[in-house]
Amino acid sequence: MQLQHLLGIEPLHPQQIIEILDLADQYANRNRSSSRTSDMLAGCTQINMFFENSTRTQASFEIAGKRLGADVMNMAMQASSIKKGETLIDTALTLNAMHPDLLVVRHPHSGAVDLLAQKVNCAVLNAGDGRHEHPTQALLDALTIRRSKGRLHRLNIAICGDITHSRVARSNLILLGKMENRIRLVGPATLMPAGIGEFGAEVFHNMEEGLKDVDVVMMLRLQRERMDGGFIPSEREYYHRYGLDAAKLSHAKPDAIVMHPGPMNRGVEIDGDIADDLSRSVIQEQVEMGVAVRMAAMDILMRNRRQNRQEAQA
Ligand code: NCD
Repeated sequence: MQLQHLLGIEPLHPQQIIEILDLADQYANRNRSSSRTSDMLAGCTQINMFFENSTRTQASFEIAGKRLGADVMNMAMQASSIKKGETLIDTALTLNAMHPDLLVVRHPHSGAVDLLAQKVNCAVLNAGDGRHEHPTQALLDALTIRRSKGRLHRLNIAICGDITHSRVARSNLILLGKMENRIRLVGPATLMPAGIGEFGAEVFHNMEEGLKDVDVVMMLRLQRERMDGGFIPSEREYYHRYGLDAAKLSHAKPDAIVMHPGPMNRGVEIDGDIADDLSRSVIQEQVEMGVAVRMAAMDILMRNRRQNRQEAQA
């Protein structure tokens, strides 16, 4: 597999997705053992550039890099200090001159990470760009589903809530579609993007109907920071109609799993008891798989980089 960057799920072939998941599966098992560190990325410099607030994703990338023996540096970026593409590129060029091997980038603007990848000569990993893509989240969700359900095809999967503002929804829709699952998008019309029909998912505005007999219920955070108007009447009303509680979940299959990428708004999109119910919720496992998937992605990118450099020198 000759991936130079990981910018999104869209360009990936299903076989490449499976290769990343298979390697991540091995890392997940190793992460549970006492021999979880390696020197796979020894001598590599990894720079994390998060232009948006992040807790779990940034920590996950940092732990993943350190477990593989990379030198990891976190740049403290304030979204407010970088608003123009040009400034972003200048920052990238400055860092590029320090010869990093890997940049992990999160940015509030869709497409910003792709643009940056064109300007630098190291590998770039998209940790979420605007409403566009969040590839490692979709991969970790896929790994969690595969480990829980024993397969990643022909499942009925409901992605629920704020679809419009969610890069998680977009990357998942693409990945799960490539793997031939039946996908439903469930949420109010105001939070469904125009033209969503072209992705081949069924759209529901009623939770009870949308969750009927599904294998996987994927909840999304209400992304208020991306909303510039009244998308919902009130949080109370939203919870009443679209918040996942026991009554709504009872329409899914009895063994359906509940997912959420975090951070969660308890009592807004999900009931706290459902989120904490380990017989249904795989939310903690998603976090665990996140480290494994990021280790796998970085391992593959760095191996390809080494190979390309050797070929260029030969
Ligand atoms: C998601 C993100 O940042 O897109 N969170 C995450 O990566 N853990 C989802 C969200 O912010 O709601």
